[in-house]
Amino acid sequence: MIFLCDRQAKCFSYFSVDSFPLTVCISYLSVQQVKLGSPDYIDCNTEEVIEDFMKRIKCYENSYQPLDEVLDRDLSYIKIMDVGRRYLVNRVLDHIQSRIVYYLMNIHITPRSIYLCRHGESDLNVKGCIGGDSGLSGRGKEFSKCLGKFIQEQNIKDLKVWTSQMKRTIQTAEAVAVPYEQWKALNEIDAGVCEEMMYEEIQVHYPVEFSLRDQDKYRYRYPKGESYEDLVQRLEPVIMELERQENVLVICHQAVMRCLLAYFLDKSAEELPYLKCPLHTVLKLTPVAYGCKVESVWLNVEAVNTHRDRPENVDISRMPEEALFTVPAHQ
Ligand code: F6P
Repeated sequence: MIFLCDRQAKCFSYFSVDSFPLTVCISYLSVQQVKLGSPDYIDCNTEEVIEDFMKRIKCYENSYQPLDEVLDRDLSYIKIMDVGRRYLVNRVLDHIQSRIVYYLMNIHITPRSIYLCRHGESDLNVKGCIGGDSGLSGRGKEFSKCLGKFIQEQNIKDLKVWTSQMKRTIQTAEAVAVPYEQWKALNEIDAGVCEEMMYEEIQVHYPVEFSLRDQDKYRYRYPKGESYEDLVQRLEPVIMELERQENVLVICHQAVMRCLLAYFLDKSAEELPYLKCPLHTVLKLTPVAYGCKVESVWLNVEAVNTHRDRPENVDISRMPEEALFTVPAHQ
């Protein structure tokens, strides 16, 4: 449960979150910060929003009861005051509850943007091969320079830059004249026995695996490698840290960028592995109340397309042409 109240700790609302009571105390300032972008208040000015929301709180007060620190001492709950200025955590009993508390204590509403992009085009991208640890192509290097320029023009306060530990993201970051931090967790999905193969080669050597992946791309795990589901788990600490930080540029990889994007845009497991994250394009995500604003900026440097859509026929008995129908063109 979520239990909302104002600065004087008067309650106004309950919401259900895994039957874990959570108190959120909210001030006028917080109302302004989180409610101005609400779909309920499109075309309203600040005063109207605050006035209406405070009336709403009054109505909630009639229906709900505050948690009492003595009477409710046996309940598990968290009180959040003024959107994270103070917390009161009571009787956290299990793993899920402690994860919820940890998450809630890390999120913030300071205005900021998260910039997501992939490394510049790599030599293996040009050949249509997945995985590996190749360096940047000529166009990839050109993109890196443009990325540096773009970031400079954005004039971002205290920008953090994160890369994976793979050569192509590190080379890309080198051109952005800002210190960067390498995360192993940001490395591209491990394609196991299919590393450095073209999709066409996977179809030749592992046709059954290729169709199984098309049948359930999110859960499919490459032999000796990873699935998108594994990747989502691996990225959890990165996501938590992204929640804590302010402006961050993450230079990553196709599958990794899909997972991060899916988290911020609330996409399903079915949509996630097919999200479009083209090379040489920066996605600027700006958290707003109830979601994230997305701006897509193509940096005007051509690159190979690496996106393969789900083919219509995903059956094991399909013809090779049917399996390869959606493979993007390459060298
Ligand atoms: O092709 C580039 C790449 O980053 C590969 O290294 C990776 O295996 C692939 O994209 C992930 O995309 P998909 O899951 O669509 O094959």
